[in-house]
Order: sequence, then structure tokens, then C-alpha cells
Amino acid sequence: MSERTVIQLRSDNSTVVFEVNDKVLSILYWGRDLLLLGSAGDQSAALTNSVAHSSLDIPPTPGVLREYSRGFQGHPALSGHRNGKAWSTQFSLVDYSHQGNVLIAQLSDDAAQLSLELAYRLTAEGILKVDAILTNLGSAEYSVDQFVYWMPLPDRAKEVLDFTGRWSHERHPQRHPIVAGLTTREIREGRSGHDYTIAQIAMTPNSNFASGENWALSMAWSGNSVHHVERLADGVQSIGAGELLMPGEIILAPGESYQVPGVIANYSNHGLDGLSSNYHSWLRARPSHPTNVRPRPLTLNVWEAVYFAHDEATIRQITDVAAEIGVERMVLDDGWFHDRRNDFAGLGDWVVDPAVWPKGLSSIVKYINDKGIEFGLWFEGEMVNPDSDLYRAHPEWILHEADRVPPLQRHQLVLDLTHEGAYDHILGQVDAILSEYNIAYIKWDHNRTLVDAGHLGQAAIHNQTAAIYRLFAELKRRHPKLEIESCASGGARVDLGIVDLVDRFWTSDNNDALERQTIQRWTGLVIPPEMLGTHIGPTHGHQTARTHEISFRAVNAIFGHAGIEWNVTEASPEELEILKKWAALYKAKRGLLHSGRSIRVDHPDSNAFLYGVVAQDKSEALFAYVQHRMNESTFPAMALLPGLEPESLYEVKVLNEVGKPRALQIKNPPWLKGVKLSGAALANIGVRPPILAPENAILISVVKAS
Ligand code: DGJ
Repeated sequence: MSERTVIQLRSDNSTVVFEVNDKVLSILYWGRDLLLLGSAGDQSAALTNSVAHSSLDIPPTPGVLREYSRGFQGHPALSGHRNGKAWSTQFSLVDYSHQGNVLIAQLSDDAAQLSLELAYRLTAEGILKVDAILTNLGSAEYSVDQFVYWMPLPDRAKEVLDFTGRWSHERHPQRHPIVAGLTTREIREGRSGHDYTIAQIAMTPNSNFASGENWALSMAWSGNSVHHVERLADGVQSIGAGELLMPGEIILAPGESYQVPGVIANYSNHGLDGLSSNYHSWLRARPSHPTNVRPRPLTLNVWEAVYFAHDEATIRQITDVAAEIGVERMVLDDGWFHDRRNDFAGLGDWVVDPAVWPKGLSSIVKYINDKGIEFGLWFEGEMVNPDSDLYRAHPEWILHEADRVPPLQRHQLVLDLTHEGAYDHILGQVDAILSEYNIAYIKWDHNRTLVDAGHLGQAAIHNQTAAIYRLFAELKRRHPKLEIESCASGGARVDLGIVDLVDRFWTSDNNDALERQTIQRWTGLVIPPEMLGTHIGPTHGHQTARTHEISFRAVNAIFGHAGIEWNVTEASPEELEILKKWAALYKAKRGLLHSGRSIRVDHPDSNAFLYGVVAQDKSEALFAYVQHRMNESTFPAMALLPGLEPESLYEVKVLNEVGKPRALQIKNPPWLKGVKLSGAALANIGVRPPILAPENAILISVVKAS
């Protein structure tokens, strides 16, 4: 293997080029797909640096592991030690297999007594999945401090985009130039978090939704994480991500392995929408992807309608109206189990509370099912209230350090699922409820951060994360049709790790349609709309106290896995009529919305959003023009509707099923009632939006003319 070899993984839109040279595995290139013709030696020579003043005598070849021992002086891939020794490694490639678009490399370091398996899998959709397993071959323990996966960035990547947030304000973008040093985003709260950057994206300048090159990296993990962009003084740029480990969290006994949580790399030379299309196509290609199982049912969640005030008569009344609207699934949220009259008590005791459900849940489940509606139920199985039978019996079953009880959050503690007894208790109680009742789906919440989260004196966030993955997999094994929604105080556990175990994400606790615009836009960059819960909230928003027209809330909520989170018994007859029409429209359009290409238009007026979904065969599309604030000029900027066949004719009109928006004009532009235009005209000339009042929106239907 001393010979120089080039290995290329290729998809339609991207490629990764590796080099094997003298037992060192390196990544030469990651980006736009290309054809390599020259010899491996010439290819490598083209990339080799000169020997600079005040530098090592031979240009370093740090390899994918970026080791000090090979002359690298930036952030390494592996950090760890064996009681202070073996702190610096020098892995050699001992073997590899390359089949199709998969490269699996075996590396070992005889001095450090470690072996490493690295797997690179490039999918047809252009997603590169990278996984590593580190094994301790020595006879003493090896402490892993960190393993970060790194991918190279070219010089032309000049900016970085990532996401930040807090409760009810998830995934807001921040973009800035790449500067010297490390640009780092860390999560230390034990769940992916509201502030999690679901992807960190390096970009060429002026890159936007439609154009530019983007290199994105994401963790496939729901625990602690770190994302880096690094620019060294010599000009080398890289992007990296890994699990963030607490001190002593992973100590490998002789023969033990650390399965490093993997990363997802994604490249686009068609802007952010190109990245988005790769993520969506890749997720949709999974046989278990929710739309491959069945259409996404219109959902009604009773949380904001009743909060903890459960009583069967009220839920029946809501069910009656839900059935009239055409709701297909209802969710009983929180408040149903032992002593859960508020958020001070009950977590941990997953038995139906006879005080509010004297006949158990059978009667309400039957009532709902008899109306043709499925039943869903809320759990928060990773948590325990000090005021619960579970905690009274097992105060030792919480994640904690020393003999301290961690600070409370929402009056609750974290149950230690790495403790076999606690795990079995939760699995047993949840399984019993799922076995007793006809439950189609569970909403699984996680309402606090992990603080001081240890198990028998050792940090336990990694193992706790693995435990919840195991629990979800086991629940699904026992109940094959069960769907799970991942919720964590809204959208604090939306990531590419848990995505393989859940069917829906609760995008945010914020149901205000204006706030949701930004949250949904950026969450939807990675997660396809059919997996994002988007509900019509109450007229007067509970989170922001804003008042919105039903049409605005309806336009916002249709671009996802649609639902309602509002006491619909309080809706006026006019609002009820709109809800019925909107529900029918959602059912008619969900095939398109949940399979098409998501497009966010780079609209010239920052006071409005313009976005939509175009069918993969370009036969139809649905766009939203959303006026956030007053437009800049009297007449709003033309709405360009791209992505259709330039030479085909389309019928374009505004859909009134969502009700009428509030407008600030005397007369509507005439096209709203329907016109026929070519795909080229729609993309380049567009249509003139009406002058809408702020916080109003229209839904534009585009269908190929027959
Ligand atoms: C937080 C969730 O995000 C809400 O949707 C709701 O389920 C509450 N928890 C219930 O306590």
C-alpha cells in the first residue's frame, strides 16, 4: 500500500476524492462532481505546498486525522490519552475496501494501541455520511476527550452560516465571514437544543438560496455537539463536527470501542435550496420515511385549548368540531397521567389518572376513533418530578453528580435511563399504555436541559442519548405502526440523529404565524416539510399575544405536516368554514407539498417572504407570498415564481380556501382570479402581489394548463 492511489466517491452533484499514500489516508477534494484523468502522482503534486520559511522541512501530510505527529498544527480529529500517555497518535492505514460509493478504512496505531474504522458513504442524493469506531487495543484504559470529523474547504469558501435560538425562537440564521482561527458552536445541554446549529454551512460570497457553493456539516446526534470552521494561518480551511464529551465521559476499557456519533456532509453548487433538495431527497429515500408509509394526517393537538384542564366532556366537544373540520388525528397533550394537574407533579408515573379520566382513556379513545379520527398521546419519559411516586421510590434514579440534586427546571429532574431499573420502568409503563389503547402516535417531549448529568460519578450524556434511541427503537419494534413526534420545549430536539427514529418534529412552541415564518424556513432547509409540525394557533397568539387573521395562520400552517392547536369550539362560523376548506385543501395538496422541491425565492424586498413547493415533474406548484412588514414601495416587488418548465403554460391564481387576507388597496391586481403564463414568464417576470397589510399572506396555485 505504499503506492499512491486516488479513490473517488461520486454522486450526481458532488464528489469526494481521497488519496492513499504511504499508509496515510487524506481527503484531497470535496465539492462539485468532476472527472479525474491524470495520474494519482500528478494529482497530488498539483496540491502539494512549497516548503515555506519558518516551517517544517517537508510539507506535512496530516491525513484525515490531522495528527501532530505528521506535522499538523490545527485542531486534530482525535484527542485523548492513556493516563497522560499516548496523547499523540500516528495512525497508519492497514486496509481499506472501496465498493461503489463506500470507502471503509481500517487504521491502527501500534504505539498508542488504538484502532480506528472510518466509513465514508456517499448516497445517490449527494449526502456523505461519515462514521468512526475507535477501539482500545491496549491493556490499560484509554480516555477519549474528543473526536471531530473534518472535511476540507476550498479557498473560495469565505463565509459561514449557522443557526442560533432559544425557546420559541429556534434556528435563526447568523452569517459572517470566515476569519482566522476556530469559529465554534457548542451545545452542552444534553439535547440538541434550541440553540443547536442543525447544519453549519461554509459558503462562497454572495451565495443565496438559488446560487453559490455551499459545504454543510451536521451531527447525526441528539446529545452534546461541537461544530467548527477552522482557518489556519497557512490558509488551510476546514469544517468539522463531533460529539462534545464531558471530562471522563468516554473511558475505554481494554478491548472496548467508542462508536463516534456520525456526521452528515452535504455539498451544493446551486445555493441553499440545492443543499435543501439534497437533504430532502436523501431523507425521502428511506423506506421508513413517513410519507413512504402513509399521507400525513391532519392533526389537532389540544395543548393550547385545554392545557392541564382535562375533562372528557370538553375533549368530546373539541372532537365534534374537529370531525366537522376533517381532522384525522387528535393528540391528548400532557395532563392525563397520575397527579398531573400542573407541571409540578406526575412525571415518571405513566398511568392514567382516575381523577380526570375515571373510566380510563378507553371511552375518549373510542369516541375519537368512532369519528374516524386517530388518537395520539403525550409522554415525557426521560423526566421525573420530585413530586411523583417514582421519585419517592427511587430518588437514586436521576442523573446527578456526587450526592447533589441538580437544579430543577420546570420543576423536574432527568431520569437516568442508563440505569437499567429506570429504563425498564419507563419502557414498561409506556408499553402498557400503548398495548391497552389504540394509539397511533405519541408526542415525546423533553422539557429541560441536562445539568450535572452523571451516572455513578461519570458524565452520562452520551449514554443517556444512546438510551433514548434504544427506547424509541424498542417501542417501535413492539408497536410497528407507532409514530413518534420528537418534541423538546418545542423544537429543541430537531436533528439528523433522531430523525431515523421519529416521524415528526414539533418545530417550535411558538405558534405565532409571523414568528413561525423564520423558524419553519430554516428548519425546513434540512428537514422536509412533511416531518415538521405546523399548526394553526389561536387568533390571539399565546406566546406573543399578537392577533392574526385566520388566512395568515392557514397559509403558514399548510407548508408542513399541518394541524391545529386552538380551541376550535371557540371558532366563529366563518372561521369554521375556512378551517373546513383549508383542511380539504391540505388533503388535496399534501401529495405535492410533501414530495416536491422546496424553493425559497431570493425576494428583493426584505419585508416579505416568497416561497413554495414545486412538483418534481414540474406539473404544479404552490407558493406563498407573505407580507411581514409594510412593503418598501407602493407596489410590492414582483413575485418571481421559479422552478417550473420554461416552455410550458401554467394556470396561475390565488386560492381563497384559506380565507381573505387584509389588504391596503382599492382594487386587487387582476391576475389573482386566474391567468395563464409560461414557466419562463413566471420565473423571470413574475406576478405583482397585492398590497397586503403587514402579517398577511396569499397562497398562489400554479398548475400546468391542459
Ligand atoms: C412543551 C411542548 O413543546 C408543548 O407543545 C406541550 O407539549 C407542553 N410541553 C406540555 O407540557
